[in-house]
Amino acid sequence: MTETDSVAAITAAAKQLLGDTGTRLDVELLLSHCLGLSRTALLARSDQKISPNQFKLFQALLEQRRAGVPLAYLVQKQAFWKSEINVTADTLIPRPDTELLIATILERWGSPHRTLIDLGTGSGAIAVSLAKERPNWTIIGSDHCNRALSVAQSNGRDLDNLCWVQADWLTSFAQNKFDIIVANPPYIAPNDPHLHALRYEPRQALVAADHGLEDLKTIIAQAKRHLTKTGHLLLEHGYNQQSAVIEAMNNRGWHCEGLRDLSGNPRAVLGQLGES
Ligand SMILES: C[S@@+](CC[C@H](N)C(=O)[O-])C[C@H]1O[C@@H](n2cnc3c(N)ncnc32)[C@H](O)[C@@H]1O
Repeated sequence: MTETDSVAAITAAAKQLLGDTGTRLDVELLLSHCLGLSRTALLARSDQKISPNQFKLFQALLEQRRAGVPLAYLVQKQAFWKSEINVTADTLIPRPDTELLIATILERWGSPHRTLIDLGTGSGAIAVSLAKERPNWTIIGSDHCNRALSVAQSNGRDLDNLCWVQADWLTSFAQNKFDIIVANPPYIAPNDPHLHALRYEPRQALVAADHGLEDLKTIIAQAKRHLTKTGHLLLEHGYNQQSAVIEAMNNRGWHCEGLRDLSGNPRAVLGQLGES
């Protein structure tokens, strides 16, 4: 692969270099990013040459991709729900599984005003997607990581029904009550072998003590005081954690419904408090 090659030749050679560490789509998206073009525009210019600087940047990013850096961090964005979400090394890359939370909320609550908080908002993917879909709701995104909140802020910059708060789960919200509390907290056990494949993502976004359940249990314990009378708590969890989450919620008086993601895996629990 040399800088005098055409876009088509560079794409083919780069795919060979990537081997099993990436797909042709990865190569096209990286090259589009370096040229500042959409993928469609890139494909339409397959006979063209690229500039020496663009070639250097592409080579550097391709090397990182070969080393296993996720494509989203290299192109600094990830498709989620109906938007492209900016991401950095300070934020988790939003996953398709998490779209279950958005779909569940939109299915069950229409446009009349609600107040919703997205705990552990990271890139803001959940809060921003809901703020776009429900422009008359009041939505808060919170995280304990300030650098993640700056990324979330950039993703929500055009929305005026959204605000951001730095907080350790619900501890800074002494008086506030919400109609919906939603969270995709860290839920991977510290010794989980899958963590190696996730080594470029922030550990504090992934790992929780107590077999991955500690943050889920903290949120369950705190949420009770922060919901309106008919309020709901919606929690994402690991594919094998649903019964533990339902048990933790039942023990504290919640009525629960287990939900499955598009792959059919148990992925979230929706809870409402019973009369006490
Ligand atoms: C699994 S990531 C979810 C990010 C985003 N909501 C998403 O679904 O893509 C968990 C997030 O929880 C945040 N977090 C971890 N511990 C926290 C705490 N004690 N209080 C608030 N946020 C926390 C992390 O910084 C991270 O952004």
